[in-house]
Amino acid sequence: MSSVERTGRVAPREVSLVIRNAAELATPLGNSPRLGAALAQLRVVPDPLLAIDGEQIVAIGPQRELGERFVGRLELDARRGTLVPGFVDAHTHPVFATTREDEFELRTRGASYAEIAAAGGGILSTTRGVRAASQTELEERLSAHLARFVEHGTTTVEAKSGYGLSVDDELKCLRAIAAVRARSELDLAPTFLGAHDYPLEHRADKPAYVRAILDEMLPRVAAEGLAEYCDVFTETIAFSLEDSRRILERARELGLGLRMHVDQLTPLGGAELAAELGAASADHLEHVSERGIERLRESGVVAVLCPVVPLFLRQTVEAPGRKLIDAGVAVAISTDFNPGSCYLPSMPEVCSWAALRYRMSAAECLSAATLNAACSLGRGAELGSLEVGKRADVVVLDAPNHKHLVYELGRNPVRAVVARGRLVRSRG
Ligand code: NIG
Ligand code: FE
Repeated sequence: MSSVERTGRVAPREVSLVIRNAAELATPLGNSPRLGAALAQLRVVPDPLLAIDGEQIVAIGPQRELGERFVGRLELDARRGTLVPGFVDAHTHPVFATTREDEFELRTRGASYAEIAAAGGGILSTTRGVRAASQTELEERLSAHLARFVEHGTTTVEAKSGYGLSVDDELKCLRAIAAVRARSELDLAPTFLGAHDYPLEHRADKPAYVRAILDEMLPRVAAEGLAEYCDVFTETIAFSLEDSRRILERARELGLGLRMHVDQLTPLGGAELAAELGAASADHLEHVSERGIERLRESGVVAVLCPVVPLFLRQTVEAPGRKLIDAGVAVAISTDFNPGSCYLPSMPEVCSWAALRYRMSAAECLSAATLNAACSLGRGAELGSLEVGKRADVVVLDAPNHKHLVYELGRNPVRAVVARGRLVRSRG
């Protein structure tokens, strides 16, 4: 006799985790970037239930329909909060040992980012700290930073090297990322950024540093499988278009995906190069040209914007977020977490600033901070949205609906975090 005949009801399916009693579930849908008007289209389920088995989502729907059909070995009461996908931070520099609060203060007194860098501060000051630190120390620092990311609901973090700036120190940073990745509850996407700046010992002979990247760093990074992506800071104070192209073409030959810091401080034409090379992402874009916008749209390169950086650097020029979206460019938003230009690990805060500075709706911010960011990291088919079959990376917001994500400034709205189907944080 089946359980239906015995009881007149279907026996509930036992799964590893059921999330009940949420007020709302909000998510973008699909495996590819949301463009134009579609960036604002969410699936919103009032009074939802979400069932997870192992690492995957197995059911989403109204609780009144699914409530009796699932029982969790762990049951999570969302207490009228809102369920959204785990945030994907597609641009961070989290491997460093020292901070730069003095530079922050210098900027409040009028100094510019470029002036501070020219005076020996900036990236090079962080490089001094990284070179003096052991791999173990860097791992400890990185783990501490990642704990703050998870607290704010981030479940996937792109992590760049770029403060070592020598063969050994860049490898040390990437090995620290690999070691932490192996034991982390988060998904880390490692990026090699040897072309972040010219170290002091190569300032008089810059071509020698580019050769070290091409002939020593990149082959070793690829051989040891230490990075998914190669990034370059393409800028007047950093790497020229020509050198950026050589480095990225070599990286591509070695099997790495490409990311770029472009048009951040000056309109150099980096977006056009990112489009030509078919990069996974073109990041920053404060000074992107009309042609650059058009090339990004045609090529499908994801524009990863960093809305808090100009604020942190006291720069008046911001990325044309609204214009990029309306032009049909795939837009993602990120923290750019680093000690110099944005010491902020919170994607909810980034969403608020993107809403205020770029005139984005809460729905647009949510899609840009999850699915579109996941697509820029080649993970759009696995994660970035709440759908059956996707990885169970879920955030419970202490908020009655998804619009609170951008509306509430300065408070961490994250109540609980599920990463790969496991409850990894829970408050209250
Ligand atoms: O993305 N633009 C270059 N790199 C970082 C800043 C790094 C630093 O100042 O330490 C950025 O803003
Ligand atoms: Fe950056």
